[in-house]
Amino acid sequence: MTVTAADLLALAAEAAARAYCPYSGFHVGAALLTEEGEVFSGCNVENVSFGLTNCAERTAVYSAIAAGRRRFRSIAIVQGAASGRGTIEEPCWPCGACRQVLAEFNPDLEVVFAGADGARTMSLRELLPHSFDAARLQAR
Ligand code: THU
Repeated sequence: MTVTAADLLALAAEAAARAYCPYSGFHVGAALLTEEGEVFSGCNVENVSFGLTNCAERTAVYSAIAAGRRRFRSIAIVQGAASGRGTIEEPCWPCGACRQVLAEFNPDLEVVFAGADGARTMSLRELLPHSFDAARLQAR
């Protein structure tokens, strides 16, 4: 069974409803599709210290890595409505830290956002050009 961009967006929206965000009230959900066809979802997890907050995208990546998966095809990112139901139909751009973490595993990852006319897709390379990568580290 093929997982479509629409499926990924729906799973990300479900994850957004599970966000732990008592401080910002800003629900984010992510759904990460592996090359094997599995989906790992994530939500933001806030902390009273604020700085320890983990974004939805990194929650999804870390869950997948912990399950032994490292090859990722695409990720859907959704901002949930304050009620946790429904989504806001404009891209919820990933923060810089999440872009770098995603690039670690696939700089050409497909990134799916909710758009007014359905799914809007971009490459992670467009979102994070000139990223710091392993090749640079090895060239030192
Ligand atoms: N947040 C994410 O989960 N992903 C992003 O890419 C941007 C921000 C979360 C972190 C925090 O819980 C809330 O949104 C407000 O910044």
